[in-house]
Amino acid sequence: MEQRFSDLILLLAGGINQRRMYFDAHPKVRAFSQDFTIQLGKLLSGDDQEEFSFGVFKGKFIRNGKYLVGPSIAGRSLIAFAELLGCGGFAFSLPLQPADVVAFFRLAATVKDPIGDLAVAQELFAKEGIGHIRLANPFVKNRDGTFAEGTGEQSESIPHDDDLDDFSPLVDIYQSLYEIVARNNSMALHSGGLDIAGAMANGERLAGAGGDGVLDVMQFIRYPDYDSYTIGHSVRVGALAVVIGRRLGFPPEVVTELATAGLLHDLGKGRIPEEILFKPGRLDPDERRIMESHPALGAQVLIASGEATEMMVSTAWGHHIRRDGRGYPAMPDWHKPGFAAAVIHVCDVFEALTATRPYKKPMSPHRAYEIMFKDRAAFDPRPLSALVQALGLYPPGSEVVLTDGRRGVVARAGKNLDRPAVRLTRDQFDAPLAQGPESYVDLERESSLKVAEVILVGAGES
Ligand SMILES: [Fe+2]
Repeated sequence: MEQRFSDLILLLAGGINQRRMYFDAHPKVRAFSQDFTIQLGKLLSGDDQEEFSFGVFKGKFIRNGKYLVGPSIAGRSLIAFAELLGCGGFAFSLPLQPADVVAFFRLAATVKDPIGDLAVAQELFAKEGIGHIRLANPFVKNRDGTFAEGTGEQSESIPHDDDLDDFSPLVDIYQSLYEIVARNNSMALHSGGLDIAGAMANGERLAGAGGDGVLDVMQFIRYPDYDSYTIGHSVRVGALAVVIGRRLGFPPEVVTELATAGLLHDLGKGRIPEEILFKPGRLDPDERRIMESHPALGAQVLIASGEATEMMVSTAWGHHIRRDGRGYPAMPDWHKPGFAAAVIHVCDVFEALTATRPYKKPMSPHRAYEIMFKDRAAFDPRPLSALVQALGLYPPGSEVVLTDGRRGVVARAGKNLDRPAVRLTRDQFDAPLAQGPESYVDLERESSLKVAEVILVGAGES
């Protein structure tokens, strides 16, 4: 159910992004508006509800009093629109028409200055002829900790919220990483120029995320909302590159460059037709040849930008070349990919194996390690070992069952590969546990407890 809410929010954000690049009548803009209208109809008639609504609070989405992490990252354009309008969120009701949604996309893509007054914003919606979309009052927090739409009067009295503040810096980092990859991908497709300085600034932010910050970012790996997109893949590859770079003791500026190389490594995919990029099932030989041109295309775009470093170009070019020289692009026998490319290659394969994609279920990190160690000729053992040591057998984000029956999410790897720290979410009777400092168990210290089982999030979905 939550997944369907998230999907609807992502359709809106996706439509806004398309409208920024194209125009009202463009097939992609229309496809998003039609899809949204159909999905909304299904949701509302199925649940017998009047409207589909969600709030925006401190730069994140909330829905039914809960904070939506995944959509908050991918749906930044929609959040920014709500902020410009000065509303607390949106409510959609039937009979909504695709034309209403297209007009909504148009406004969201073109309003640049803050309106900041709900009444003025509502007038603007009326003038554009947008029906069945209501602008919500700013949300407030109830005494029980849930959020609800306010009456418009007490909108400033939003109390401090610990839970939200805990996640906020991470979501901010992730939002900005997500945006820089999306922007560069779309620039690679349209103009050929790139925002390398912006990517470097984000790489630096990722590389500088203190202590377990990067591993915390990796926790979002378990949110499947955007796992099917190359953007989420690139962001996680960037985070993994930081993990490896730090473990190998590289100086901060090298870790930053590696992170940036990770964010940009798949840039060439922006030039691969979507029918091939997102094709479920096997590619035929022609499609495969086109798909395998993405490293060279990425390197070309990076070189043409005139700003990319040698490392960025060589990783974009070489991240599918195996240690034994096989892979693609085809290389002469004497060629050995550089070390940075070997690092990104490890990150790329590990991320791809453990991610949810439209055509496959996620694999446990355990199994991914196994496969990668077996294929020794493919990977440089130094970054591969560094990855396993840094992430442990149960990387942050893995959902696990402990030997006493309690369940939780791995918060960070322990010094011992099989003894992570776990944030408990459910007791042995499967009842939800309140979140607080006491919900953390460090298996490094609790020697009587162990991880009994790993639960694969999304494994039940097709
Ligand atoms: Fe790639």
